[in-house]
Amino acid sequence: MASKYQAPRGTFDVLPEDARARARVEAAASGIFARAGYGRIATPAFEDTELFERGVGRSTDIVRKEMFTFEDKGGRSITLRPEGTAPICRAYLERGMQKLAQPVKLAYSGPFFRHERPQAGRYRQFHQVGAEAIGSDLPLADAESIGLLADLLTELGVPGVELRLGSLGSLQARRAYMEELKAHLHANEGELSEDVRERIDVNPLRAFDSDHEGTRGVMEGAPRMVERLEGEDADHFAEVRALLETAGVQYSIDPTLVRGLDYYTRTIFSFVCDRLGAQSEIGGGGRYDGLIEQLGGPPTPAVGWAAGIERILLALGEETEAPPPRTVFISHDAGSGEAGRTAVALAGELRRAGLATELDLAGRSVKGQFKHANRIGADLVVILEEDGTLQLRDMQSGEQDAVESSDLVTEIGRRRS
Ligand code: HAM
Repeated sequence: MASKYQAPRGTFDVLPEDARARARVEAAASGIFARAGYGRIATPAFEDTELFERGVGRSTDIVRKEMFTFEDKGGRSITLRPEGTAPICRAYLERGMQKLAQPVKLAYSGPFFRHERPQAGRYRQFHQVGAEAIGSDLPLADAESIGLLADLLTELGVPGVELRLGSLGSLQARRAYMEELKAHLHANEGELSEDVRERIDVNPLRAFDSDHEGTRGVMEGAPRMVERLEGEDADHFAEVRALLETAGVQYSIDPTLVRGLDYYTRTIFSFVCDRLGAQSEIGGGGRYDGLIEQLGGPPTPAVGWAAGIERILLALGEETEAPPPRTVFISHDAGSGEAGRTAVALAGELRRAGLATELDLAGRSVKGQFKHANRIGADLVVILEEDGTLQLRDMQSGEQDAVESSDLVTEIGRRRS
């Protein structure tokens, strides 16, 4: 029967067979964060709208078009978080984390919301894992941060990954560069797409992202920030590059790299995967030295990234994770009589000993229980005979032996090792 209700456009359900692959991504990220000394943080799924307007930037697509914004019952404007960096900076200030030893290293994982046009790899509710190091301006912090994402993708075995690196310079340098870029765009207005032309003064960097032919031609001759870095900005970028090279992290410089959020300064980076279509970015981030100040705090340099869990899973392909080996109890009276009660007690014992164990909860016949054990991939079954004795059967070899209930845990452990 077709269901009357459907998940909202651009959303999906995570079903058990998908959940295992997802859990593997989360577990790999958790391990990497823990080993690098990043503490976990979770912020609310919604925040005051103004946090994103000020933090992400009013000229960005995210704030202009993609936020799920509503008024709550108190008349406040609330927005489902489209990203995690501004909320974490809000928490850093609100919770007085500037008093802690710097940098404060924080990692997160959770759902984010953007009202985008859904397509493969682009959803309205998606999930990110991410890491932020707040309170260091050293190139070492940039290189370490990039290295964590590189390690995560390597550990997971994501194929065809490339790292693109760029730099926007300090806020002042970026401002001067933007004026130069705007002048170039105004001088060539006639050849630009309407969208880019309308936004020359609000967000000229986005012109680098356009697929419009005329715009692309104009952008070929446009000034490029990485080639204009000077003084400390140039030194910082050179040091980040040297550190990545020392660490053996492969990258290429992309002078046209831009990101969809306004807070970036200096280093920006993007990990793309050639197995993904139009939405090829698996994860990315950069330095955001002006954001905390923008939110009302003291000048505080910071760097971080986020990666899309769904994009990682897409890049990994369809391989579904095999369920863990489990033992299934098979009894002639399917849970209702003496054998059933023994099965419940023994299954509890096995589970407490850390062994995955299942019982028939559907009142199947013995034959049906065997079929079901096969279907769910049980490697071992425990048969409760009518005389109260137990048999342990290896489903692969068909080998079957009598076993004492007191030996069950040891015996199962021995067969699995
Ligand atoms: P972002 O590039 O907007 O950066 O998003 C990071 C990642 O989230 C993207 O690379 C992509 O994998 C995934 N993603 C974004 N939008 C969608 C979507 N609609 N559907 C599926 N996946 C999506 C940020 O959010 C910054 N907060 C990253 C950062 C942290 N920068 C510094 N610190």
